[in-house]
Amino acid sequence: MPSSGKFDGLDFSQIDIELLTPELRKLGQGFRCIRGEFVTYWKQGRIHREIDASLCQCWIVRVEDTLAGYITLLADKLQVEDPLLAKEGVKYRTFPAVKIGLLAVDRRTKGLGIRLMDWAIDYVITEVTPIIGVRFITVDALYDADVEPAYDASGFYAKLGFEFAIPTDPLPPVNPYRTMYFDLKQLSEALVTEDMTEDS
Ligand SMILES: CC(C)(COP(=O)(O)OP(=O)(O)OC[C@H]1O[C@@H](n2cnc3c(N)ncnc32)[C@H](O)[C@@H]1OP(=O)(O)O)[C@@H](O)C(=O)NCCC(=O)NCCS
Repeated sequence: MPSSGKFDGLDFSQIDIELLTPELRKLGQGFRCIRGEFVTYWKQGRIHREIDASLCQCWIVRVEDTLAGYITLLADKLQVEDPLLAKEGVKYRTFPAVKIGLLAVDRRTKGLGIRLMDWAIDYVITEVTPIIGVRFITVDALYDADVEPAYDASGFYAKLGFEFAIPTDPLPPVNPYRTMYFDLKQLSEALVTEDMTEDS
């Protein structure tokens, strides 16, 4: 078990994020998360099985040999009621997306959730959108009405600019989550402009 001070004072804003390889699967013994099921997903091999079945890829942050957090990405489609891109002359209500599958950080870290999300958004823009059409990042934001107060991860994603796919969803939602999306367009364009400025 790592000492509780393992993550003290660490600045996670620039920390390296690594693809989870078979050798790294042994990490995670001392992983502690505010939601115990995310420890179980790791320790009981759910994530590893999903990777082996080509259902997702997983990236991790570690501090020495201690797992600090993980995020999984997979292909998705966003379905909405409004034709979100009507202004761009596109009338679809279904769009290609990359989904944040599972995201969890050790509860003793600070700022790691945002770091993993910033990394994922940047990764999709720089590595995925140049080779395959992806307009949105999606997530099923966990909502657990069985605890008091209810656990609602949507506030975390809302801080990053995510919006609800069905804004009129009642609370508590029918499923234990609400689907949210983030439009990559503005950031993608900003990155292209930045690159052009650097090149000139
Ligand atoms: C959700 C989770 C990944 C967020 O990571 P984190 O490291 O705690 O987030 P950060 O420290 O980077 O916090 C970023 C900001 O989001 C805020 N935030 C975090 N969780 C929030 C929530 N549920 N609702 C509203 N705001 C939240 C933080 O207070 C912080 O705000 P600040 O910048 O004003 O201080 C983490 O709490 C976690 O592992 N939760 C359990 C698993 C889980 O719910 N995963 C998501 C399932 S969809």
